[in-house]
Amino acid sequence: MKKKVAVLFGGQSTEHEVSRVSATSVLRNIDLRKYEVYPIGITKDGVWIEYKGNYDNIENGAWEKDEFYKVPEGQKILFNKEVDVVLPILHGLYGEDGTIQGLCKLLQIPCGGPGVLSSALCMDKVYTKYVLENFGIKQADYVVVEKFIFEKDKEEIINRIENKLGYDVFIKPSNSGSSVGISKAHNREELIKGLEEALKFDRKVLVEEAINAREVEVAVLGNDEPIAAVPGEIIPANEFYDFEAKYTNAESKLLIPAGIDELALESIKSEAIKIYRILDCAGMARVDFLLDKVTGEFYLNEINTLPGFTKISMYPKMWQASGKKYSDLIDDLIELAIERNNN
Ligand SMILES: Nc1ncnc2c1ncn2[C@@H]1O[C@H](COP(=O)(O)OP(=O)(O)O)[C@@H](O)[C@H]1O
Ligand SMILES: [Mg+2]
Repeated sequence: MKKKVAVLFGGQSTEHEVSRVSATSVLRNIDLRKYEVYPIGITKDGVWIEYKGNYDNIENGAWEKDEFYKVPEGQKILFNKEVDVVLPILHGLYGEDGTIQGLCKLLQIPCGGPGVLSSALCMDKVYTKYVLENFGIKQADYVVVEKFIFEKDKEEIINRIENKLGYDVFIKPSNSGSSVGISKAHNREELIKGLEEALKFDRKVLVEEAINAREVEVAVLGNDEPIAAVPGEIIPANEFYDFEAKYTNAESKLLIPAGIDELALESIKSEAIKIYRILDCAGMARVDFLLDKVTGEFYLNEINTLPGFTKISMYPKMWQASGKKYSDLIDDLIELAIERNNN
C-alpha cells in the first residue's frame, strides 16, 4: 500500500516564499508509485489549507487565491491522522524550530528531519553556541545582546562588543534564516544600526567576529549512524552571503566538492557528523562552516535542520554529487522519520 505523506509548505516565517519553492521541488519529484501526497499550505497568517491544484501555483504563490482547489482546515489531515508521515518543507520559525515537530509528536505522526529539541536548538544561534562550546567545537568569538539590556544601556554594550571583538563584526538575530536581519558592521555607526535592525526580528541578537573565510557546507543524513556527503563550497556574489546573494544574484556559485584538499574534506565531514550527533539531529541537517582563509581553521557557523531543498539547492546537490538522486533522498527522509518514530 502507498504511504500517505503530507508535504507542508509556506509557513509563518520570513522564509515563506523560499519554502514554497523547496516544497514544489519535493512535490514534483516524490515517487508517486510509492506515496500518496497531500500538499498542505500554511499561509503567513498561520491558516492551514490543503491544496489540490497545479504545483506551479504553489511555486508562484497563486494557490492562495485559487478557491477551486483549496480545501479549508488542512490541519484536520494531521489531527485525523490521515497521513503516515509529515514532511515539513518549511524554513525558519514555526517550521524549522521544533513547533511543527512538537505538533507531530503529540499526534504521533512521524515527521521528516530532526525532532523537537534538536530543531529548536539549531534554530537558535545563541543556544547552538552555548551547547557546542562545551564540546570544544571551534566557533567565532561572540557577544550576546538582549533587547531589554540594549535599551537600558547602549553605550556599555557597544563598548563591550568593541573591546571583545573589534571590527568587522556580524550581527544576527538569534533565530534567523536566509540572512534576514543579518548585517556586517565595519564601524560603530553600522554596529548600532545593525543591532537595531536585528532586534526587530528577535529579542536576542548574536554579534560575532567576522572571519575572513570561505564557506564550506556539509550535508548529513541519518539517525543513529549518520553519514555525510561530499562537502560543497559557496562563493557568494556579495560581500557576504546575504539574502540577495542567496536568491536573486545569479553570480553566487556553488562548488562541489569544495575547493579544499582531500584531507580537509574528510576532516570537515567527520566534524560535521560529530556536531550533528551532539545536537541530537536526526533525518537530515546541513552543517555550515567558515574556513579561515589565513589559518585554514574551520569554524562552525550554523546548522540548518531544514536546509534549502530545491533540486538545485546545496543540500540535495551535495548528495547528488555523492551518488544519491533527489527522489531517493526524499525516500530516505521518509524512511528515517518512520524508523525514528518506531524507536
Ligand atoms: N562570523 C562570520 N564571519 C564571516 N562571515 C559570516 C559570519 N557569520 C555569518 N557570515 C556570513 O553571513 C551569512 C549568513 O549568516 P548565517 O549565520 O549563515 O545566517 P542564516 O541563518 O541567515 O543563513 C553566511 O553565509 C556568511 O556569508
Ligand atoms: Mg546560513
